Parts: sequence; C-alpha cells; structure tokens
Amino acid sequence: MKKLIIAIDGPAGAGKSTVAQILAHRLRYNYIDTGAMYRAITWKVMKTNVNNDIIAIENIAKNIKIQLDYVDGKTNVFVDGFNVTEEIRNPAISRLVSEIAQIRAIRDAMLQLQRHMATAGGVVMDGRDIGTHVLPNADVKVFLTASIKERADRRWRELTEKGFIVNREELEKEIADRDKADSEREFAPLIQASDAILIDTTTLSIEEAVTAILKNCEERSSLV
Ligand code: DC
Repeated sequence: MKKLIIAIDGPAGAGKSTVAQILAHRLRYNYIDTGAMYRAITWKVMKTNVNNDIIAIENIAKNIKIQLDYVDGKTNVFVDGFNVTEEIRNPAISRLVSEIAQIRAIRDAMLQLQRHMATAGGVVMDGRDIGTHVLPNADVKVFLTASIKERADRRWRELTEKGFIVNREELEKEIADRDKADSEREFAPLIQASDAILIDTTTLSIEEAVTAILKNCEERSSLV
C-alpha cells in the first residue's frame, strides 16, 4: 500500500492523539503531534519570561529547536535538547497555548517545520489546521469531534489520573474558551476542511473511529 499522509484535525479532547497513535502503530507510520509543538514553544515563552514582547517571541520562534521522537507509541518532546514531554501537559501551559498559537511568527515557523516533517510520507499528523493549511494535499483528511461535555469529562479523567486537582466546570469553560480562540483566530483557524470526513466520537468508540479511518485509507490508496 502506498505510504499515505493522514491529517486529523479537531477540537481539544476529541480523541485525536489516541486515534492518530493507533493508526500510526497499525500502519507503521510516524505520528506528529502538532499540538505538542505549540505547547513546546509556549513552554519556552513561559520559561524565558518574555511576557508580551513580540520581538522576543519572534526570536524564540526563529531559533527554537523542537524535536518529536515517536517511539513505541509514545512521543517524547524536546526543546533545545531538554525533555519537556511531561511539563508541556501542565494546566498552566494549556491555559496559555491558544494565545501563543495565534501569533503569526509562531505559526509560520511551525508550518515550515511540520511540512518538513511530513515530506517522506507515511505520516499521521494531528492538530487544528493540518487538512486546511499545513498539508492541504493530504491523502486522507479527518475532522474528529465530540460534544463539549464528553471532551471535558475525558480531559478531567486524564488530568485527575495524573494527580492534578481540577474543577470539572472550570475545565469545561477553559476548553470552550480554547475552542473559541482556536476557531476564531485570524490565521489558520480550526475548521473542517471541505474534503475531510467528519467523525463524532461522542458515542463512538476509539476502535470504531480507527476502523472508519482505515477504511478511508484503503479506499484512497487504491486511487493513488
Ligand atoms: O491538541 P492540543 O490541545 O495539545 O493543542 C494545544 C493548542 O495548540 C491548541 O489550543 C491550539 C494549538 N494548536 C494549533 O493552533 N494548531 C495546531 N495545528 C495544533 C494545535
């Protein structure tokens, strides 16, 4: 089967990374978590205390070295050689990342890097603007979504299991705010690509979502 490029977009908590990693594993493809890249740059912005200094932020965007190592079903994220895999999932980063991801210089830098990472094909990339902007010629495009209530429940369980104490209602509000910021931003907003298949995981299991996408991959690979 030809090595495809698979783009998966959707809001926070829709199941993108779980579905994308299972697909990557089954197809023996690379998995690229672009949300982790925006979190990584947010980590650096926070660490360097640049606040709203746009020139300093642009410099970070130009010089940052982000490395994603996807091995045995886990992505390790490195910023300038430091392993930030766990830290970038902190609620403080989740609260700031949408704002940082709106900055044009940051999006331009990530766009170049993400396109470069996909050049060899055989890749599953997930994010918000992959099918519309980063890889508009992707072979398979998926828009994965779920109700806000279901997505908030999933994130709450995930964070609680990691030991964070989070208020369920506040979390839902934060996710809704993040959806709004991601969908309404000027450059490369979160929208479903016109040629993407829509999969709603509110009542669908992960396995059912994966099966639907694999079926689409088979259909596509017989055409390309
Ligand atoms: O998928 P995630 O929650 O880890 O993503 C973190 C943030 O990064 C999300 O709020 C929006 C931003 N993002 C983006 O703007 N474009 C992408 N391709 C991926 C993520």
